[in-house]
Amino acid sequence: MRTHVVDHPLVAHKLTALRDVDTDSPTFRRLADELVTLLAYEATRDVRVEQHGITTPVAPTTGVRLAHPKPMVVPILRAGLGMLEGMMRLLPTAEVGFLGMVRNEETLEASTYAERLPEDLAGRQCYVLDPMLATGGTLAAAIRFLTDRGADHITAICLLAAPEGCERLERELEGLEVPVTVVTAAMDERLNEKGYIVPGLGDAGDRLYGVAGN
Ligand code: URA
Repeated sequence: MRTHVVDHPLVAHKLTALRDVDTDSPTFRRLADELVTLLAYEATRDVRVEQHGITTPVAPTTGVRLAHPKPMVVPILRAGLGMLEGMMRLLPTAEVGFLGMVRNEETLEASTYAERLPEDLAGRQCYVLDPMLATGGTLAAAIRFLTDRGADHITAICLLAAPEGCERLERELEGLEVPVTVVTAAMDERLNEKGYIVPGLGDAGDRLYGVAGN
């Protein structure tokens, strides 16, 4: 597994505003959207392209276009939805599949409660959107789900990551043949006893959408 912390002053600037407890939901959504687009630029460095011949007003030439099958963008419900538009801005022709994962707040274990994805993901590059890589349980389960269906290249885009989550992801994905990259705006200090990232930004879903009951 490769972890890429995007080191850019604009990323740090937007992340600082996102972390601020005084940032309201509408501003949080806008900042998350902008931040994802910056992260997506780095995350799509390996997106597969194929040669494509065109004619400019001046001469024929050869460029590239996105290869087939198209990349698959997979937001993890609920908070990953807040990252979808920012990602699709860079990959408007990608397909979108949805994965609903819930974390048991006592055991911190993740399970799938909904999915809308093709049965066959053979040869697909998947971009998983999950704002908080905290314990790593949700992301590990999501990556297993996608590789079990044949995805052969996974990039996870996370606003924030914790060292404990990255270590668990490494452990749980050990032996997986599929390359996995995590792209994040920052590697924070640690998790607290409730599984929240410190200093973090709080509950990403609540901050995006307001507090909703189960
Ligand atoms: N999920 C969140 O939304 N925030 C955290 O800090 C950890 C998990």
